[in-house]
Amino acid sequence: MRATVDRAGLDPQGRLPKVQVRRVRKGDLGKVRDVLEQTFGDFLERQLGTRPRQAFGGAQYVHHRWLMEPWGCFVAEEDGSKIVGAALAATLGSLGLLGPVAVLTNYQNQAIGQQLIRAAQEFFDENKATLHGVVTYPTSPKHLYLYHKFGYKPKHLTAIMSRAIDRGTPRPPAAKAAKAPLAMRRFSTLEETKKKAALARMHRITSAVYRGLDLAKEVEIVDGLALGDTLLLERGREILGFAICHSPGVSEAPTGALYVKFLAIDPAQKRPEQLLEFVAGVEALGTELGVQRVILPVYSRYWAAYSMLVQCGYAIDFTMVRMQRGKQEDYEDPTHLVLDDWR
Ligand SMILES: CC(C)(COP(=O)(O)OP(=O)(O)OC[C@H]1O[C@@H](n2cnc3c(N)ncnc32)[C@H](O)[C@@H]1OP(=O)(O)O)[C@@H](O)C(=O)NCCC(=O)NCCS
Repeated sequence: MRATVDRAGLDPQGRLPKVQVRRVRKGDLGKVRDVLEQTFGDFLERQLGTRPRQAFGGAQYVHHRWLMEPWGCFVAEEDGSKIVGAALAATLGSLGLLGPVAVLTNYQNQAIGQQLIRAAQEFFDENKATLHGVVTYPTSPKHLYLYHKFGYKPKHLTAIMSRAIDRGTPRPPAAKAAKAPLAMRRFSTLEETKKKAALARMHRITSAVYRGLDLAKEVEIVDGLALGDTLLLERGREILGFAICHSPGVSEAPTGALYVKFLAIDPAQKRPEQLLEFVAGVEALGTELGVQRVILPVYSRYWAAYSMLVQCGYAIDFTMVRMQRGKQEDYEDPTHLVLDDWR
């Protein structure tokens, strides 16, 4: 079953294909969410032996991702009426991230997933993303085969880690060893003109992690839709790092948890205690919001960051494998203090 993107292609018999890939429209959003929930629910049920009540534990991916990157969101539609698959993709500056991708269980293994991935690839190329990435299930031969077909190479594990917030026993301040006191500020409290300058500073930090990487869209959508907030780690007037936090509701945070989607500390100024301070700041925000857990994802190539989270009492909830294709596909520096999640 061949699918086409935004144009009516003909199959070898000259008929319209049954399934076509097109961009997501506003009216599709609820359906796309259902397709993801249903498909991942089926997949996890096969893996775990029981069906989770909610495939993503209450985390939401569709509405805000579409608002952030409408041209990167695709559906596969049967007979122009039934949505049977979806793929979301986004470019963060030079980095193109694919996922989630889902095809309803009864429609799988008919090349629909590949048509969706191809549409996302074209979107990355149009936007000149130099590195493309996806995270997937490391024990699934199908997933590894599928992404290999598109040139993605399996790399290292991403650990989704979490820790319960202890009420009443705040983590001791880590800043003792720091030369100048560190302070935490929320992006949402900045005046509009200051927000622009802060975004430019964040871009310089992420560009030092991977050239051209830019999280501005993520920071702005979290701010604009109040999905959470971005914590800024400051020394004096200088932003040393930032953490994009999602709080539960309509964001990517599961019910009852504060979730850090991305955190980076300026590689040129990084010191281990800054990450400890940052984790304490995120936990303090979690306490203030009344959540029970903090979720921190970490790519295991960022070995220093991973080791520090273990020291802080974070345990792995589950792991996924990162797959990458493109320029500088092994760009990660193990000493960089970065937490990122490509789901
Ligand atoms: C992953 C997913 C999107 C793929 O969609 P799909 O429409 O089934 O994929 P396609 O039919 O386009 O391609 C599947 C390929 O894997 C191959 N395949 C299937 N089972 C396989 C296995 N056990 N081992 C190796 N290859 C396998 C198929 O033969 C096909 O390759 P081919 O066209 O070269 O023959 C779909 O299975 C899905 O929604 N899964 C649940 C949600 C999920 O895991 N999403 C992805 C998270 S990263």
